[in-house]
Amino acid sequence: MLINLNNTYLSTIYTVLTYIKIGPLLLKIVKVVLFLNIFYTKKGKKIRNLANKVETLKMLNNRGHTVNTKIWIVDNLVENISEDPKIIEASRLLSNRELVAFPTETVYGLGANALDSEAVKKIYIAKGRPSDNPLIVHISNKDDLEKYVEEIPKKSKILIDKFWPGPMTLVFKKKEGVFPDEITAGLDTVAIRMPSHPVALALIENSKVPIAAPSANLSGRPSPTTAKHVTEDLFGKVAGIVDGGKTGIGLESTVIDVTGEVPIILRLGGITKDQLEQCVGYVELDSGLISEKQTPRSPGMKYKHYAPKAQFILVQGKPEFLQKQIEKAKYEGKKVGVYTVDERKSYYHADIVIAGGSDSDLNTVAERMYSVLREFDHTDVNVIYGETFSVDGIGSAIMNRLLKAAGNHIITE
Ligand code: TXA
Ligand code: MG
Repeated sequence: MLINLNNTYLSTIYTVLTYIKIGPLLLKIVKVVLFLNIFYTKKGKKIRNLANKVETLKMLNNRGHTVNTKIWIVDNLVENISEDPKIIEASRLLSNRELVAFPTETVYGLGANALDSEAVKKIYIAKGRPSDNPLIVHISNKDDLEKYVEEIPKKSKILIDKFWPGPMTLVFKKKEGVFPDEITAGLDTVAIRMPSHPVALALIENSKVPIAAPSANLSGRPSPTTAKHVTEDLFGKVAGIVDGGKTGIGLESTVIDVTGEVPIILRLGGITKDQLEQCVGYVELDSGLISEKQTPRSPGMKYKHYAPKAQFILVQGKPEFLQKQIEKAKYEGKKVGVYTVDERKSYYHADIVIAGGSDSDLNTVAERMYSVLREFDHTDVNVIYGETFSVDGIGSAIMNRLLKAAGNHIITE
């Protein structure tokens, strides 16, 4: 039943009822009745539609979804890339607090002015990144380092001489008052890297500020190694994407804490433990990377990461053993994918079999790993069985990422 009350009438009733001290309670009841009244009228429907629209806009805004994303295709090999108008335009956006994704030699990064708190906050929103996970600051000139860190220990200087520009991130004691809290997530250290990719260097140089750049994927998803991967995750959420083709290494940089006497690897990556030890002697591996019981020192390493959408399980054993897992899953009515290498691609009988490089060249496996994990997302498989790799050289970083992608789910023969 619909009732019709106007405001003057209501306020008179309210004054009388307040006088006899039951006004507030009765007012609540009247408000509910009024709400129901409006709810079922034509006017009410209009108001509800409007409210829904505002709600949707608010939601999209919160998810950073209202942005026009510009895509620039650039040629990495061209000389004087800094003078390319596309790079100049992208750099200008970076200086203007906007997010721009760009290629590095490891994976695509999502850049923002590292000195501007508002710009850095946008990174967390666009990626859906947990706020306790600090960012890497990218520089284009080794000499800038002293502006940002408290000290540059001796061993770190040796590592910088050898591996910068390149896929190595160093964690230093931060200089107070330089970076906003969002960069370091409240830690007293800061992670810094000088990339070697010409596009990354040109953007940093032109924007004239250090650039914070996590991998340009939604939090938890495989890191992007092409601009298409970035588009899949971030189109509509960032101001621009510089498409410089495929990245080279395919795995993120090695993160090393150099604040103590012995350098500690916090994240395995593009540069191996052996390569580091050849330069500075013994290098420790953070125990949190080896044992599930210990919390990793690098906040980002404690999250499930790099995962494709379907369930991903690693299988350690002979190909016959993996084929048995396939049969079991098929029997249960599942569509099955297999992640293998060229050598065994034709061995497996599953719904989708993808080879990501060769067993005898783990660099190609690293280069293509994230791309293969994402490729499965374009199929309808429910479960993916993945082979394991030797942990020699870059293999340890590959296995680290695959175990994370599988949430440590591994079946052993
Ligand atoms: O290759 C790379 O490093 C790429 C490209 C774009 O440069 N970037 C990248 O950033 O992988 P991101 O945000 O996805 O990973 C940064 C890692 C996280 O695990 C984070 O916890 C760690 O570095 N990290 C950053 N600052 C740190 C700090 N002060 N102490 C310890 N770990 C830190
Ligand atoms: Mg990442």
